[in-house]
Amino acid sequence: MKRIDLLINDTMYKDYIQRNMDEEINAYCQHDFRHHLDVARITYILVLENNDLNYFIKESGLSGKLAAKEVIYAAGLLHDIGKWKEFQTGTDHASYGSRLAREVLPRALFNEQEIEIICQGIFEHRNISMDMSFLGERLHRADNLSHLCLECPAQNVCPKMKNRDASLSSLEY
Ligand SMILES: [Fe+2]
Repeated sequence: MKRIDLLINDTMYKDYIQRNMDEEINAYCQHDFRHHLDVARITYILVLENNDLNYFIKESGLSGKLAAKEVIYAAGLLHDIGKWKEFQTGTDHASYGSRLAREVLPRALFNEQEIEIICQGIFEHRNISMDMSFLGERLHRADNLSHLCLECPAQNVCPKMKNRDASLSSLEY
């Protein structure tokens, strides 16, 4: 996936991931590169195991399976790149991250239509709602599944545990 190689080697992408790590030195829940890759892979699995890849390609007007895989991976790899800003200022990381992603994605050669789909998914991924995009809903589920909340020593104080999806997260993926 050449465009994913470009994305993960982008100087600003690496910088945003590093900023997350700098803000989370003593935190149990990490939003590092590993978390982003986990979410990318789980999102892709969720699409594949429901045989939804062709639907996603058609619904989104993508050029084919490789483009769809790259769009899904890009969304996963970028979904929390605004997290450091939320730690610093309280700004919503999903909204801020979608703005950062809009700057990174053209350098990884994603076209305008693909960028819209990815940024909408990132913007939506934080909260579940009735009118989410296909990608936003899968990203949200993958994000919850990626956190091993049942293993977490901070589960008694973590606000995520109030979220039913997160409390059900398991070793399944
Ligand atoms: Fe996440």
